[in-house]
Amino acid sequence: MSQPKRYTITAALPYTNGPIHIGHLAGVYVPADIYARYQRLIGNDVAFICGSDEHGVPITLKAKKEGVTPQDVVDKYHAIIKTSFEDFGISFDNYSRTSAPIHHETAQAFFKTLYDKGEFIEEVTEQLYDAQANQFLADRFVVGTCPKCGYEEAYGDQCEKCGTSHNATDLINPKSAITGNTPTLKETKHWFLPLDKHEAFLKEWILEGHKKDWKPNVYGQVKSWIDDGLRPRAVTRDLNWGIPVPVEGGEGKVLYVWFDAPIGYISATKEWAAREGKDWEPYWKNNDTKLVHFIGKDNIVFHCIIFPSMLKAEGSYILPDNVPANEFLNLEGNKLSTSKNWAVWLPEYLKDFPDKQDVLRYALTANAPETKDNDFTWKDFQARNNNELVAILGNFINRVVVLTHKYYSAVVPEASEFTAVDEETLATLKAYPAVISSAIERYRFREASQELMNLARLGNKYLADEEPWKVIKEDEARTKTIMFVALQIASALATLSEPFLPFTSAKLKTILRHAELDSEPTWNTISEKETLLPAGHHIGEAELLFSKIEDEDIQVQLDKLEASKKANEAANKTAEPQKDEITFEDFTKLDMRVGTIIEAEKMPKTKKLLVLKVDTGIDIRTVVSGIAESYNPEDVVGKKVTILVNLAPRKLRGVESQGMILMTETTDGKLVFVNPDNALETTNGLQIS
Ligand code: MF3
Ligand code: ZN
Repeated sequence: MSQPKRYTITAALPYTNGPIHIGHLAGVYVPADIYARYQRLIGNDVAFICGSDEHGVPITLKAKKEGVTPQDVVDKYHAIIKTSFEDFGISFDNYSRTSAPIHHETAQAFFKTLYDKGEFIEEVTEQLYDAQANQFLADRFVVGTCPKCGYEEAYGDQCEKCGTSHNATDLINPKSAITGNTPTLKETKHWFLPLDKHEAFLKEWILEGHKKDWKPNVYGQVKSWIDDGLRPRAVTRDLNWGIPVPVEGGEGKVLYVWFDAPIGYISATKEWAAREGKDWEPYWKNNDTKLVHFIGKDNIVFHCIIFPSMLKAEGSYILPDNVPANEFLNLEGNKLSTSKNWAVWLPEYLKDFPDKQDVLRYALTANAPETKDNDFTWKDFQARNNNELVAILGNFINRVVVLTHKYYSAVVPEASEFTAVDEETLATLKAYPAVISSAIERYRFREASQELMNLARLGNKYLADEEPWKVIKEDEARTKTIMFVALQIASALATLSEPFLPFTSAKLKTILRHAELDSEPTWNTISEKETLLPAGHHIGEAELLFSKIEDEDIQVQLDKLEASKKANEAANKTAEPQKDEITFEDFTKLDMRVGTIIEAEKMPKTKKLLVLKVDTGIDIRTVVSGIAESYNPEDVVGKKVTILVNLAPRKLRGVESQGMILMTETTDGKLVFVNPDNALETTNGLQIS
């Protein structure tokens, strides 16, 4: 390995308005963590930085909704999110927060520098205003039609559908998210970052300089924005939650959240360096530092255009070397959604699968939305666990460890002569670090995870072909050689799995007692060393690395999602408006009785109709009722119902109906009888069926 390189690796600061879900993990934090762990393993100097994004309208909206202060919201979710990251082994060197004093100071100083350098345009313009709420409407306070793609629920600063970032006044048909009112325009002063001024530099730096090494999805988005022409963007807001604008005339205004949040990467680095007794500046200012931003695709414009323009305008900072943004992860065929509760929340996952952090990391990596949106399904999750982690990796390790205990009392045996197969297997093993490295360096984490599994496959195949459990009966020396080779593969797996499966890797190193070796195998030495686990080395007890996930466990998860879907449908169902008023006299004309259904059959060739015989107490009548989609004939016989008996008879499909059964509809759309036993919540008034 050459000179260690300095890496500043950032992962998007999550908004602190809710817990995080699998989409966050798959899109940003697991790939970032694999990359950071890998860089540390090969000996590089890494600052892996993240923190909570605590300003911005989403926080204010959440606080309003919960009836608490924005500070309460960020305190609550900062703690929850930080714990989730720790639980899933995301190895940040620092997880900070943008409410930290060091961040307020850093962001204000940054703004002040640009202000002093004349890098802003100061202008009074008309902005959207909600007179009823007495408030300017920016960002998520306003919803309207995207001027670019026509999506009707675009926010004031960004369309989540096409990713475009725009000014709130560009929205077509804007509506206040607070009151639903159409906003008016009101004059106010703001500071604008003239992106158009940076266009030439962006073209040269990205369009010419990173055509080859940036992901096509990232490059393509950036190119399309630049081709559309860049315009000045306001970097201040008339809001009361955020970082105060630190210049004259900025009273009552705050920095735009997308101005302050990326500076959070810098503040968090400063905080970390101070704690570690290091100098933060090389991590942001030395040309030999590699800065990499891990983000989701909705963050591309901010990390590739706006933040770099800010850094460039400031003048003393380096620019990102790469921004390997991922596409989105869907869940069981639908877009992940916080508001619809269509998500797998990390704290909940851990409750249901307390020791399966690595399983989720693996399933999300193997199926990561690297080049296109991808779907997470619980079936795939189960298959990744049962067919790969359990059946391949777990099975291989277990066989090796159990046989080593059984045959050699846990001591690595001496190898004698290697066969051609042994030589080839060991040579293939030694090539793996480079193969996996190459995939990681190209930000292809799916491929990398599959190569790791291929190494376990190699081990399994080797054992299955060489059959030490048979050979032991006739050739002890040969058995020792086979087990020696298999143990070398197990040891390489312990080291190479660390970026992907950190908990498993730690367990495996304990089982193999890596710490007791004179020289512990490392990513760089696997390909060079003659042996990883030398003969005579004692290994530890076998321990289960993975366990099977049963269909029942998966069904529980699917049921949870089904429940979310139902709850949403119910919430979206609006009650039908009230019908025209009737007089009391009209009402008394209705003669309603309690009757009992004594016979029921389906009306032939219809979907909806049942022919019922009802004992009304006066007589027995035939009633044709449109309830066949809600009830089977055999289920209604014997039921007490409310029946309108003085309705003029009417022929339906040739059968005279002599009354009407009163029904109502439940929230999930099922018709139910109106009788004293029904206390169901209903949305539509009485129906006469
Ligand atoms: N909070 C933003 C989001 O969740 C990401 C902010 S990234 C940073 O989309 F660069 F601004 F920090
Ligand atoms: Zn759009």
